[in-house]
Amino acid sequence: MKKIVFLTGAGMSVESGFKTFRGNDGLWENYPVEQVASHEGWEQDPTLVTNFYNMLRKKLYAAQPNEGHKIIAALEKEYNVTVITQNVDNLHEKAGSTHVIHLHGELTKVCSSREPYDPQYIEELGPDNSQVAPGTKAGDGSLLRPFIVFFGESVPMLEPAAREVEDADIFVVIGTSLNVYPAASLLYYTKPGTPTFLIDPNAVSTEARNITYIRKGASEGMKELAEMLPKL
Ligand code: OAD
Repeated sequence: MKKIVFLTGAGMSVESGFKTFRGNDGLWENYPVEQVASHEGWEQDPTLVTNFYNMLRKKLYAAQPNEGHKIIAALEKEYNVTVITQNVDNLHEKAGSTHVIHLHGELTKVCSSREPYDPQYIEELGPDNSQVAPGTKAGDGSLLRPFIVFFGESVPMLEPAAREVEDADIFVVIGTSLNVYPAASLLYYTKPGTPTFLIDPNAVSTEARNITYIRKGASEGMKELAEMLPKL
């Protein structure tokens, strides 16, 4: 089976009702990124940060994967598929994708603020207990925090993601402005000659070579790509 690796960003979930981060009316316009998604912001005002992710989590449990997520999941019948996502939503999993690497954390989880990656303190929240009361403690007595990689923190899933990209026969980038590193550096890990596609309705600039651009939204773009794949 050929291996297809996807790298997805906020644009992947637009058709499921989520905003992107950058650009006009992006999420960071209304909620300054340094307040709600940086390590310093968390230290300064954990209540504000907890409430922000409570709001997003509630929205997530009411959202559904779109056609783009579903086509990616369906490709598992014919391909070895890995999804690397910068998104903290769980819409790829909800659509049926079974191998998803979350670079920037997961909205459905909360963790210790002292040891965010200690599995014994990571808790999964569901639609019935999606809201964390500010001040709630993790099992180790530190404040419970969203399982999100904040700006200013390391990205431990980058290495496993890079190994997947190196191994890809086909690489597909969807709905990311490629502004955020190290995630954007994954484009440079493909083997020479790997067919690479970039699906985005807007122009995205990258110095990576040999990219076929599909200037469409995630769902329409994935339909077009799915027709091209058997010919590759
Ligand atoms: P951005 O908001 O920077 O970029 C979103 C991209 O989605 C843009 O290139 C849009 O043109 C594109 N887009 C818009 N509508 C689309 C559609 N219907 N289908 C496909 N694409 C569409 O979001 P990211 O690149 O994902 O990090 O941002 C990267 C990281 O920055 C995020 O993971 C987040 C943020 O700060 C954290 O929260 C840690």
